[in-house]
Amino acid sequence: MVLAGQAALVTGANSGIGKAVALGLGASGADVVVNYVTNPESAEEVAHRIEASGRRALAIKADVSREEDVQAMFAKAINHFGTLHICVNNAGLQRDAPLLDMTLKQWNEVISVNLTGQFLCAREAVREFKTRGVVREVSAAAGKLVFMSSVHQEIPWAGHVNYAASKGGVMQLMRSIAQEVAPLAIRANAIAPGAIRTPINKSAWETPAAYKELMTLVPYKRIGEPEDIAQAVAWLVSDAADYVTGATFFVDGGMTLFPGFTTGG
Ligand code: BGC
Repeated sequence: MVLAGQAALVTGANSGIGKAVALGLGASGADVVVNYVTNPESAEEVAHRIEASGRRALAIKADVSREEDVQAMFAKAINHFGTLHICVNNAGLQRDAPLLDMTLKQWNEVISVNLTGQFLCAREAVREFKTRGVVREVSAAAGKLVFMSSVHQEIPWAGHVNYAASKGGVMQLMRSIAQEVAPLAIRANAIAPGAIRTPINKSAWETPAAYKELMTLVPYKRIGEPEDIAQAVAWLVSDAADYVTGATFFVDGGMTLFPGFTTGG
């Protein structure tokens, strides 16, 4: 219960990694805002599971790429919980296409949600963290931001240039924000997941042939589960990580260890 007395907002919290993170923060004692944009029933289900464990939860619909949606969501969340201590910028999507076929719409959609959405939510969160300041009995920091990046902030990804560019952007967005807000006792860090079993990459793990192919990229020889990411987030936002800011935590079973070089080079 290391997060008891704290309120967290998790974007894209009705499925995949966001869902596991919302449940994990609830299990660590936090009250949780479950943001979603589609499938309200799945967001309500996550909220009910958190409430069943004795915490408070609120599902809020907002498209993170829209400034007015984000501002309305933060106002509602702060009004409901009194304040916010943790913001996990998780919402993200892929719109894959080879470069020559990629439309401007596909490019813009990915950049708007994955990068602009993280900027908009981080800005609103920092406004609240700064206004409230540190409350020692609750947390050593005035607030904690977690940015969901990807191994593709580092690994180039043909056929996914919009996605890789968005995650490269998330890295410098996070690091620059971390530098700017550290004097306010606000910590900003990122998680860079590798291949995690979620709907976004179903085609990479749902058949035995696809899974076998995927494992050639994963030295640890198993796909990641959303809970692997949730554990890392719960630690990063706790006071146990109070001296950690501006860091990217790779949770990828070794995907960034260049497994192609195990025997080659
Ligand atoms: C992508 C997944 C992919 C994984 C590893 C993630 O960021 O969203 O589709 O399987 O990176 O390549």
